[in-house]
Amino acid sequence: MDADALIVNLFEGVAQPGGAAGVVDRALDGAITQLITAGEIKGKTGELTLVHSLGKIPASRVIVAGLGKESQFNVDAIRRVSAEASRFARSRGARRVATIVHGGGAGGIDAERAAQAITEGAILGLYRFRRHMSKEPENGDVQETLIVERDEAKRSQLEKGCAMGTVVAGAVASARDMINEPANFMTPGTMADIARDLARDGGLGLTVLERAQMRELGMGGLLGVSQGSHQDPKFIVLSYRGDPGSEKALGLVGKGITFDSGGISLKPSEDMGDMKGDMAGGATVMAVMRAVGRLKPAVNVTAIVPATENLPGGSALKPGDVITAMSGKTIEIISTDAEGRLVLADALSYAVKNGLAPLVDVATLTGAVRVALGDVTVGLFSNNEEFAGRVMAAAAEAGERMWQMPMFEEYREQNKSDVADIKNTGGRYGGAITAAQFVGEFAGDVPWVHLDIAGTSLTGKEKGHVVKGATGGGVRTLINLVMGLAAAPAQGR
Ligand code: BES
Ligand code: MN
Ligand code: ZN
Repeated sequence: MDADALIVNLFEGVAQPGGAAGVVDRALDGAITQLITAGEIKGKTGELTLVHSLGKIPASRVIVAGLGKESQFNVDAIRRVSAEASRFARSRGARRVATIVHGGGAGGIDAERAAQAITEGAILGLYRFRRHMSKEPENGDVQETLIVERDEAKRSQLEKGCAMGTVVAGAVASARDMINEPANFMTPGTMADIARDLARDGGLGLTVLERAQMRELGMGGLLGVSQGSHQDPKFIVLSYRGDPGSEKALGLVGKGITFDSGGISLKPSEDMGDMKGDMAGGATVMAVMRAVGRLKPAVNVTAIVPATENLPGGSALKPGDVITAMSGKTIEIISTDAEGRLVLADALSYAVKNGLAPLVDVATLTGAVRVALGDVTVGLFSNNEEFAGRVMAAAAEAGERMWQMPMFEEYREQNKSDVADIKNTGGRYGGAITAAQFVGEFAGDVPWVHLDIAGTSLTGKEKGHVVKGATGGGVRTLINLVMGLAAAPAQGR
């Protein structure tokens, strides 16, 4: 085998390592037990201890990773430990890393799920975005992670989990890449190019609407937002048919603002650079399609990304303007910085017109959701309790925090305009909700869930499988949703 580091584990409060860690401990003449006795290893969450093996086993180092309390152990803990131990190994110069199956023994988690979580943790925890750095990193990339297990009977389960984890983490990493990419590289055109690659590699259908076709369809929202930019807007539609016998198809809509300056309602300059990530919703649904193209579930899925910049050019939309969306609704522009809902309006109308149902939209839509839920939790809004429950369950399975917000009709008052059918901001209070209500107007009575990821899309701190920059949050939830729909279709439509 020969690895630079072997990752083993220990639950908190255990005096003598058992299972695979026990085997390694004995091969090291009880070095791990000794460190436990000396009080240097406690098994706490996040604890990482390096032990040199001095030639006693075919891995030059052993990393003992604390798993925390056994009663609180779950798949998310595996993903986290795998990520943090992998980064630790890399920081010590390891290129080939081996790991035992965390949770396989005392943890009682099935081998396939454990292997998937280990794989996701390793790939996502080691993720770096260095495309624009000339210098090599201090420590090179980990080339390979091996999962080691004595029980031959578990092999096929481990392989399955590992394969699934590779696809899922690859999808999340692709979303991170798109979101982290500066806006001068990630233009609407670049997003369309990436969609073309995805379609080719995954056998997906692709339609990219250009300005002329947007005009024919009356997409006043997307066209309005794009007016101030020199970049051509793109309306990207990727479709996968895994259930050709069925007319039904899940619709995934992602906000694709490749840079949000606010437009004429210009944003303050502080942190404006973060707005290169305002296409995170679009990146999310494209990443899901990448996974779907590889996993080939028996379900139909279509992803839609209305992509444009929001800039204050000479022909930009102005506060006070009135535009007509694809649905025919007229919209009074109060703030050109409330652009996300304008492009989502047309994308949802297109989805409804094409019979897609149920619908999920994903968007870095409001600063207000950050105020409400911080950078921990995604705001979930819906017009359908059953479908909302399915998305919540998919999120829980992924270990992604989401919280359902109220959609009481009283909030709709705030979006009423004196000059048009609706206005694009609902005032300061309940801003995430009034934004969701606006978007929901265009889903009509189709079961619909809106995910506001403005708080969770970027992070400034490294934790578990998440590293600084784009989190890629939401991708794993939506992959779970799609796989779940393939196994058990939604009721009704
Ligand atoms: N893209 C922003 C929301 C955002 C803010 C995302 C911070 C990520 C971090 C969105 O287009 C926006 O500007 N929303 C406005 C709406 C307001 C004008 C009603 C906001 O939240 O301030
Ligand atoms: Mn904005
Ligand atoms: Zn925006």
